[in-house]
Amino acid sequence: MTSAEIRQQFLDFFKSKGHTVVPSAPIVVKNDPTLLFTNAGMNQFKDYFLGNKPAPYNRAADTQKCLRVSGKHNDLEEVGVDTYHHTMFEMLGNWSFGDYFKKDAIAWSWELLTEVYKLDKSRLYVTVFEGDEKEGIPASKIALAEWKKIIPENQIVFGNKKDNFWEMGDTGPCGPCTEIHVDCRSEEEVAKIPGRDLVNKDHPQVIEIWNNVFIQYNRKKDGSLEPLPATHVDTGMGFERLVRVIQQKQSNYDTDIFTGTIAATEKITNKK
Ligand code: SER
Repeated sequence: MTSAEIRQQFLDFFKSKGHTVVPSAPIVVKNDPTLLFTNAGMNQFKDYFLGNKPAPYNRAADTQKCLRVSGKHNDLEEVGVDTYHHTMFEMLGNWSFGDYFKKDAIAWSWELLTEVYKLDKSRLYVTVFEGDEKEGIPASKIALAEWKKIIPENQIVFGNKKDNFWEMGDTGPCGPCTEIHVDCRSEEEVAKIPGRDLVNKDHPQVIEIWNNVFIQYNRKKDGSLEPLPATHVDTGMGFERLVRVIQQKQSNYDTDIFTGTIAATEKITNKK
């Protein structure tokens, strides 16, 4: 599958589940002094999550151009050092505005990855929020129960606030999340160390591809969490990473997203 086909399949899948496909928002954020550049697909929907504006649709999907070079989600130091972080990247996302919640979001993410993209189920791991006493946020019992229906328990890993509670910035919509990671190592490597031991350990071949956030709170300026009047879904899948996994490459830069540009640059500069 080409990267263009992979992108289209994502949008078609969520369209078939009743989502309105919307365009990517501009990379420079308008009318939000808390953020300079778009750092996630959910930015353009912030007012719908907070209840400031009614959403024109209950469900949406898109591919959002994102920049993570400053602020809370800053990947700049990783770029050029590893094979899977970028300054600008595309984030595939699906959203529910007060509509479906954990059960459907989890089931659909699994259906897309394993039935449409046909990823090997035994190579997928999911993370679930273990809760945070200091913040007074409970463990994600529902997400855990839903995953237990789908995946063997030894492929479920618990994560703390750093990895499993997503916040847009210092303030704004936030909530617990469940991530999907994929182990792309050789059989030989897998036999030595199980993939679950390498989840969230910066291993270049065991990488996160999709984050499903369950937006339930608003982080206020004074640091407190205010429960939102409705609950929402905000997911983000790294397009370049997904393509790399499907095209079975060791690096995002070896996918057809980049190889054409790299080859043209080589030709122009006469350098390998
Ligand atoms: N907002 C979440 C993220 O950026 C999921 O889309 O990871």
